[in-house]
Amino acid sequence: MTTRRLVLTRGAAAVGAASAGLLLPQIVRAQSNKVRVGFMLPYTGTFAQLGVAIENGVRMALNEKGGKLAGREIEWFKVDDESEPSKGVENANRLVQRDKVDVLIGTVHSGVQMGIQRVARESGVLNLIPNAGVHAATRGLCAPNVFRTSFTNSQPTLALGKPMVDKGLKKAVWITWKYAAGDEAFEGFKESYTKAGGTIVKELGLPFPNVEFQALLTEIASLKPDAVACFFAGGGAAKFIRDYAAAGLKDKIPLWGSGFLTEGVLDAAGPAAEGIMTTMHYSDSLDTPRNQKFRLEYAKSFRMQPDVYAVQGYDTGLLLAQGAEAVKGDLANKQALYKAMEGATIDSPRGKWSMSKSHNPVQDIYLRRVEKGENKVIGVAAKQLADPGTGCKMG
Ligand code: PHB
Repeated sequence: MTTRRLVLTRGAAAVGAASAGLLLPQIVRAQSNKVRVGFMLPYTGTFAQLGVAIENGVRMALNEKGGKLAGREIEWFKVDDESEPSKGVENANRLVQRDKVDVLIGTVHSGVQMGIQRVARESGVLNLIPNAGVHAATRGLCAPNVFRTSFTNSQPTLALGKPMVDKGLKKAVWITWKYAAGDEAFEGFKESYTKAGGTIVKELGLPFPNVEFQALLTEIASLKPDAVACFFAGGGAAKFIRDYAAAGLKDKIPLWGSGFLTEGVLDAAGPAAEGIMTTMHYSDSLDTPRNQKFRLEYAKSFRMQPDVYAVQGYDTGLLLAQGAEAVKGDLANKQALYKAMEGATIDSPRGKWSMSKSHNPVQDIYLRRVEKGENKVIGVAAKQLADPGTGCKMG
């Protein structure tokens, strides 16, 4: 039989089945093609290493499932968003309209996420946020097809204020990049620090992704606060830590921060990072079999140590796999897919977490201290913390 004949015969069989009322089950159609998964992440600039860690984490989780989603093969697509908010919509549309992805995984930067959010709401494409903490994504602009596996920007800092005051650090300077992530991290810090009895003596900032810290460090030295609290991440965080020590502040004014400050940068920052205290939903040193196994496998696969971004990527892969398995690979069955993802509990290296009604993790926040180049857990700073936002009307 020729190939053409075979095609005709198959076609005729399908038409026959349809006309007899025996429509092919959706599942056959769903499984006959690949799932199209797109990464929209920063692969250049100050957040480049964050993008790489997230992609590694996603791939690792899906490799553990045989490299497939509920038995379907995966076709991957990639766009470098450069952490550039002005290109957010255009870059998201590259994946959604040009590449026709079923799932868009992205991104890191809160400003860029606002572009993705718009495209996700307009197109209905499934969007999994593996980092960007912008409040609007799971508050005022929440959407049934958008899920976050990371945090909201104020979640880590809502746990930061009290341990600082408990240590007698009652007057603090806050410093950050002035954009959504820094401003919203400040919201969490302000609430927790003032509630615990602390006073914020000055709020300092510089535009993202500038790293000219010198003038601000000089100002901190003259203000002489009990402590400094901050939000920085990626390459900029490593430079801030080094510059802080080089300015002679390290042993005089304790440095605290949202835990991103010390994620993935400890080798680059070197001894300047020792002693920094942070709050975060993960720690390298979590002494659980789940975390140890994850760290070992990640290091073997990628020849580098995992950080919080790798964990968030890994959990994104786990969430996607859970959703896909619940609908037997038929991602077009959106109602059932979203229901499964909403009800998901993720057995993460960070500890088990569940999805809130507004699609954001409810999770423990750890207090950590940098010791010998590692983020060591000191304790749990907040148990099963949910984002306090009430702007989302879903569910
Ligand atoms: C953000 O822009 O939302 C952001 C970026 C890097 C982080 C955390 C949050 O480490």
